[in-house]
Amino acid sequence: MVSENKTLNKVYTAKNHQQLMDAYKEWATDYESDTVNRFGYVAHVASAEALDKVLQDKEAAILDAGCGTGLVGEELVRRGYTAIDALDYSREMLEEARRKNIYRRHLQADLSKPLDFEENTYDAVVCAGTFTYGHVKAHAFDELVRITRPGGIICFTIREGAYEDYGYRQRMIELEQQQAWELLGMENADYLKNEGITCKMCTYQVTG
Ligand SMILES: C[S@@+](CC[C@H](N)C(=O)[O-])C[C@H]1O[C@@H](n2cnc3c(N)ncnc32)[C@H](O)[C@@H]1O
Repeated sequence: MVSENKTLNKVYTAKNHQQLMDAYKEWATDYESDTVNRFGYVAHVASAEALDKVLQDKEAAILDAGCGTGLVGEELVRRGYTAIDALDYSREMLEEARRKNIYRRHLQADLSKPLDFEENTYDAVVCAGTFTYGHVKAHAFDELVRITRPGGIICFTIREGAYEDYGYRQRMIELEQQQAWELLGMENADYLKNEGITCKMCTYQVTG
């Protein structure tokens, strides 16, 4: 991965979880102005749109997994959704999300580990910008499937490049073969527009 931007590089080249969390700790207050205004980040809009396309119920229980500062939550609220929970491992990013007063709950948790939720807790899970270099690995899909009810929706972005290289594609196909989820849509979409970087915008339905 090549980026000339130092902030992005720090996040994308973190060698371990601690380095990644340190990078987000430093970035939390400037994250939105950097990512949206400077780099042209649009994955939060694409993710909310993708979910809204298939989700009918505005009261659906939605988990914003890897919520960061709450950009996706804002987009969902704008579209009328009222029951959104926020989850992120970075205390500082989660704190920014909490300030927005748009989420029901704010949970600090690691998406790479088993999550402290019952099976079928959510009608939908949305995860923007988090399946990428050095962040959350492909096995995290399994937990997202477990906590989403049968018939529920999982929408996520995968940064270009990381899709093939980081085992995401393989695990997505395996879960289809195991009939854990069914692909509703996968499109190439803008990700960091000003950097010319795209993503896969994926929508799955959990099978029962
Ligand atoms: C690029 S940001 C995206 C944030 C938000 N979804 C958005 O669209 O603006 C990635 C987020 O994933 C979080 N993250 C990275 N690894 C994580 C993990 N293992 N568990 C939970 N959150 C994680 C980071 O703390 C960060 O807030």
